Amino acid sequence: MTTPTPTGESVVPTDVDTSEAPTGLPDAPTLERWATEFLRWFPHGAGAQQLAAPVSARSPAGLPSWLEGTNLAQAGRETLTAAALVRPPLPMVPARALPAVPVQVGVPAAADQPFFYFVDEPGRTLAEARHPAFDVHSVRRDFPILQTRVHGRPLIWFDNAATTQKPQVVIERLNHFYRHENSNVHRAAHELAARATDAYEGARRVAQSFLGAASPEEIIFVRGATEGINLVAQSWGRQHVKEGDEIIISHLEHHANIVPWQMLANERRACLKVVPVDSSGQLRLDELQRLLTDRTKIVSIAHVSNALGTITAVSEIVEMAHRAGARVLIDGAQSVSHLPVSVQAIDADFYVFSGHKIFAPTGIGVLYGKRAILEDMPPWQGGGSMIADVTIEKTTYQVPPARFEAGTGSIADAAALGTALEYVQRLGLQNIERYEHDLLTYATQRLLTVPGLTIVGTAAEKASVLSLVIAGVDTTGLGSALNQHGIAVRASHHCAQPILRRFGHEATLRASLAFYNTRDEVDTFVAVLQQITATARRT
Ligand SMILES: Cc1ncc(COP(=O)(O)O)c(C=O)c1O
Repeated sequence: MTTPTPTGESVVPTDVDTSEAPTGLPDAPTLERWATEFLRWFPHGAGAQQLAAPVSARSPAGLPSWLEGTNLAQAGRETLTAAALVRPPLPMVPARALPAVPVQVGVPAAADQPFFYFVDEPGRTLAEARHPAFDVHSVRRDFPILQTRVHGRPLIWFDNAATTQKPQVVIERLNHFYRHENSNVHRAAHELAARATDAYEGARRVAQSFLGAASPEEIIFVRGATEGINLVAQSWGRQHVKEGDEIIISHLEHHANIVPWQMLANERRACLKVVPVDSSGQLRLDELQRLLTDRTKIVSIAHVSNALGTITAVSEIVEMAHRAGARVLIDGAQSVSHLPVSVQAIDADFYVFSGHKIFAPTGIGVLYGKRAILEDMPPWQGGGSMIADVTIEKTTYQVPPARFEAGTGSIADAAALGTALEYVQRLGLQNIERYEHDLLTYATQRLLTVPGLTIVGTAAEKASVLSLVIAGVDTTGLGSALNQHGIAVRASHHCAQPILRRFGHEATLRASLAFYNTRDEVDTFVAVLQQITATARRT
């Protein structure tokens, strides 16, 4: 297995033990290219000073002088770490360049480089190819935990709606931060503070690009979707929602998009209205139209339901709400890892997501808000970083996003979030969406062969969530039995009790898929379900 250099060549083994000096160092031009890429990504990174010198100005043999008489193992390790961070360790699947694959911020342009995850059909671009192969086995190698065995069986991770697994490049990014950059941000005039600030603010720019926001000032780092919604409810909500006003949510919301609005409505004596769903689990837009009035201040709706998988019609919802003069928050916790999202195209006023559901660490997430709206909002927490000036009598506040980021944020996690978003962008969300759609269709057909099985949530537009019950089989017991086979699923109310009760259930078994899941895993899941169900029926 090899890792491409910043130019796309593959010269360095990815599974190299970097505690040893690398043998067969690459030639000077290759080192030069690595150095250029290294400096672009880590202007304050280890060895940056030495790397800044052109190779030609170094020793006559072309070996950079920083390698001479220095700790070769250390130098090699730093170069390799930098190369690994520049690009995730991609496997060598021979493939031609696919010009249509979108690669965005911080990643070298794709046009002239091989793209390793898809093998196009001869003579066709990706856009034209009817069945581009998504090489899931290659992708899986980026996720070390997928090699884990549970109860003696290979882990099958079908709990992606709860949290996703992390690629090696994200794990490495955390490691790199604590080894080379760790400091608080902004407040100190020293080298490590500069590195940490670069990492943190760099991740903000990546998040901006990922969401298609107009500026990095529209990106606020929060702990996750829950904190983002609470921030809006308490800052914007307390400012704008008055007695008798209306807040609209839907029946399929996660508790994180119900409880903060209930709290606000109770405090303000406002009215909380709920858009119903039809029998497939899709939102009734005709009912939304009926519920909207000139007292509606905000509509807060999930882009994808975590319990049913329904993809909601966010653009139409925003348009309808705006026509009625209301603001719109979209809860993107379950969408950003499955669908391409552009907050400007949707015209959302607020959009939230959690890093851990998109292959990044826990404890970091994003609240997007339109700049003009954020500028008009009061802070929601007070403390360091969010102030412009403090006297005992009075405080003036920073502009957004700092105004909403009181105290020390999760700096390393933010940097790793940036890496995770770039990783997803390199795979391409259109490609992920297409692969997952096929896998969902396959899994749905296979599951329906299990006697007595009902899928809860059958909307035409669905992301890869399969909520199910089996007649005569206890759902919680089913979850535990699957665990004995190494299969991780949720058997609960999924923090979405209202929608499960709407369909007559207190709990369902939820299998939620990601792009690293396979048809083989689906087959194992279905076979085990069949076996458990047959045994349960006999006893
Ligand atoms: C749709 C939806 N919204 C919000 C949340 C809350 O996310 P977090 O716990 O990461 O804040 C979740 C978590 O499952 C979710 O699925």
